[in-house]
Order: sequence, then C-alpha cells, then structure tokens
Amino acid sequence: MIVSHLTSSFVALTACLSACAGAQDFPNIHINYTVIPGIFLQDDPSTNASTFNFTASNFGLINRTYPSDSSCPDRAHSTQWQRLAHYLSTLNAHSSENQRYSLLFLARHGEGYHNAAESYFGTPAWNCYWSELDGNGTVTWADAHLTPTGINQALTVNRFWKHLIEDEKITPPDTYYTSPLFRCLQTANFTFSGLDLPSKNPFIPTIKELFREGISAHTCDRRSNKTYIHANFPSYKFEKGFPEEDPYWTPLHAETQTDQDVRSKKVLDDVFSNDRSTYISVTAHSGEITSLLRVLGHREFRLSTGAAIPVLVKATTVKGQGPTTTTQAFTSVSTCATAPTIRASSCNDCSCCK
Ligand SMILES: *[C@@H]1O[C@H](CO)[C@@H](O)[C@H](O)[C@H]1NC(C)=O
Ligand SMILES: *[C@@H]1O[C@H](CO)[C@@H](O)[C@H](O)[C@H]1NC(C)=O
Ligand SMILES: *[C@@H]1O[C@H](CO)[C@@H](O)[C@H](O)[C@H]1NC(C)=O
Ligand SMILES: *[C@@H]1O[C@H](CO)[C@@H](O)[C@H](O)[C@H]1NC(C)=O
Ligand SMILES: *[C@@H]1O[C@H](CO)[C@@H](O)[C@H](O)[C@H]1NC(C)=O
Ligand SMILES: *[C@@H]1O[C@H](CO)[C@@H](O)[C@H](O)[C@H]1NC(C)=O
Ligand SMILES: *[C@@H]1O[C@H](CO)[C@@H](O)[C@H](O)[C@H]1NC(C)=O
Repeated sequence: MIVSHLTSSFVALTACLSACAGAQDFPNIHINYTVIPGIFLQDDPSTNASTFNFTASNFGLINRTYPSDSSCPDRAHSTQWQRLAHYLSTLNAHSSENQRYSLLFLARHGEGYHNAAESYFGTPAWNCYWSELDGNGTVTWADAHLTPTGINQALTVNRFWKHLIEDEKITPPDTYYTSPLFRCLQTANFTFSGLDLPSKNPFIPTIKELFREGISAHTCDRRSNKTYIHANFPSYKFEKGFPEEDPYWTPLHAETQTDQDVRSKKVLDDVFSNDRSTYISVTAHSGEITSLLRVLGHREFRLSTGAAIPVLVKATTVKGQGPTTTTQAFTSVSTCATAPTIRASSCNDCSCCK
C-alpha cells in the first residue's frame, strides 16, 4: 500500500540505501520495524519469560505450516527451520523494494564479574557504592570479563548452535555484531567458535559502539580502549569511526531510557541500511536488548545471563520523518560515601544503604 505512493526518486533512494548510506543521512525517510507474530513462542504474551528455556524448546520456534510450504523443495524431509528459511526467502522475494524481512538473534552475554559482585553485595549496596569502583582488590568488574560460569553459559549456547546447525538445519547468521564491552566480545567468541559455518559467512563480528549496555555510573559500562580490544580479539572488525577511548561514559552520570531507545533505533537503522543480510546475530546486554525489543515493537522479554531470543522483523522504509525524539542530557547519579553494610535486595536506591 505504501508502494503505490512512491515516487521513482524514492524508489531509487531506497535501492541506494541498501548499499551506500545510512538512513540517518536521509532526513526525509525513516525505517519502521514490526515484529511478525506466530513464528516464535517468545512474542506470545502467554509465554512466561522468567521460566522459558530457549535451548529446550528449539529456540522457541513454533511447529506449524507456512503459506510457502507447498513450494518448499523436499518438503517431506525438511525441518521446521528449513521450511522457515524457505518462507523467509519467499517473503523477501515477493516484498516490495522498501520492505524486507530479517531474523535477528539477540544474545545476552554470560555472567560477568559485575553480575557476580551485584549478587554478592546486594543490589542497593552495589548500585550506590561498589559499582562505581573498578573492583574490590580481589575482583575487577570495570569492563567486566566473564566468570567461569559465564564462559560455561556461552559454551552451552555454542553446543546449542552446533545442534541447531547439524540436526535442525538452521540457517546460521549471515553477519555478526557485538557490543564493544568485553563480556560480549568474549560471549560471541565462545558462542560461535568451532561451528560448521558456511565459508562465505565466517564468524567475523563487527563491533558497534551503540549496541553497548545502557550507560550508567557503573564502571562495568565503561569500555576498554580500541587497542586493548583489538589485542584481545584480533579477528574482530570495528565499525567505521570507532574511537580509541570510550566517548560516552562519564563518572557519576547515566543515560536516560529515552536516550537509550533513540540510539538503539539509530544502530538498528545503521545495520538495516548497510547490511542486506536476512540472518543477523547481535551479542549485547540485558538492558540493551530490552531497549532493542521496545524499538522493534516486541513485548518485553527479560533474558537471563547467557540467554538469547530470535525476533523476526519486517523493516519498511517509509517516506517522511519518523516520530521525533529529543535527546536528553545524562542525569547525575548520587552515591554513598562509604561502603554500606546492608545487603537487602528488597530496595534499590541509596536511601536503603544508610
Ligand atoms: C509502523 O507501522 C505500523 C503498521 O503499519 C504503524 O502502526 C506504526 O505506527 C508505525 N510506527 C512508526 C514509528 O512509524
Ligand atoms: C512466571 O513464572 C514465575 C516463576 O515461576 C512466576 O513467579 C510468575 O508468576 C509467572 N508469571 C506469570 C504471568 O505467570
Ligand atoms: C534448559 O534445558 C536444557 C535442555 O533440556 C537443560 O539442560 C538446561 O539445564 C535447562 N536450563 C535451565 C536454566 O533450566
Ligand atoms: C515441535 O515438535 C517436536 C517433535 O516433532 C517436539 O519435540 C517439540 O517439543 C515441538 N515444539 C514446540 C515448540 O511445540
Ligand atoms: C570482592 O568481591 C567478591 C565478589 O565479587 C568477593 O567474592 C570477594 O570476597 C571480595 N573481596 C574482598 C576483599 O572483600
Ligand atoms: C575465544 O574462543 C576460543 C575458543 O573457545 C578460546 O580458545 C579463546 O580463549 C577465546 N578468546 C578470548 C579472548 O576469550
Ligand atoms: C589501553 O588500555 C590498556 C588496558 O587498560 C592500557 O594498559 C593501555 O595503556 C591503554 N592504551 C592506550 C593507548 O591508552
């Protein structure tokens, strides 16, 4: 329906978008995302996110028929994932130039030292005191690394992908993106190493600044410098313009949720404008995936450490400006001057720590 209103120059621009520029460079178009329901259990409101086990349920893929099944080659011997792949390629082959369907695999990192420390100190004391330090002398949680538990979680997901590829015949990601924070760089590495991936789409992730966690005063949200990241993950690519030092994290200041959603939209627009892939993997964080799901119009679905969620998205390039959003200044964060003794988890602000 949108197509009938398109001018030819808009069509040309849309075609160009796939290859040559970011949507943010064209103020008179925007990308609208919608989630296609009925494919995965996770977008169904009756699925309980806190008990859902994605590895026990084939990633939540619903057993069903698709309208394209009749043209699926060797349908009788095809798995659900193979029939889904055929459905997606059919949808994309028949969609208009300004529309496409992509399957996003959004994965949260495994347990990091900051997660373990928050459990150890309790959330109120963690938020108002410990999280602002780099560590406690025994453990470092600034740009936290994975704990042994976190590495095992990522290795479990690695075995799951191995099973998905070998037995379920899933189409593996065409492209990989990761947050620049160490726990995600590690999680992506452990998750996708040693898999039988197609040689045309090897595991070479692109590090994108804006897939990072919501920026709080916590030192676990401050990233390492580019030199250090490159030294530890030499095969990873950096997005264009990735600066040496973290340009965003500031002591005792926090990004607002509105701002986080604005930059989540921005990074999605960047990916969808420059990458024609159908299968896209993103390794990020609890808060950031929550924000991405809000922007995509998916129901809230909290992931535990090491968990992942697939989201089938329809992206439509629409003429005209999108809803305007004003970015806000970071808010200042108040902290406790000394280490609080309370470990109660029933409250979540500094007043509890006194
Ligand atoms: C996106 O498209 C849907 C369906 O066409 C519409 O309901 C929604 O308002 C649009 N959202 C934005 C942000 O333009
Ligand atoms: C989801 O499961 C949790 C844990 O078992 C339970 O506490 C909660 O009430 C459930 N939520 C719903 C909406 O059923
Ligand atoms: C999820 O299911 C798998 C496979 O059935 C099982 O091994 C694993 O322990 C379960 N995970 C959780 C967190 O219950
Ligand atoms: C789909 O069917 C298989 C067996 O054919 C079953 O093991 C699996 O639990 C079903 N999945 C869902 C999400 O219902
Ligand atoms: C530092 O914090 C960790 C929890 O992350 C804890 O296991 C350790 O005992 C603490 N060290 C000191 C010296 O308190
Ligand atoms: C990356 O993964 C490989 C394979 O699991 C492992 O040997 C290596 O230590 C990992 N690298 C980092 C920096 O975590
Ligand atoms: C980058 O970070 C590492 C580790 O924190 C540090 O040792 C190094 O001096 C930094 N390099 C530059 C160029 O700032």
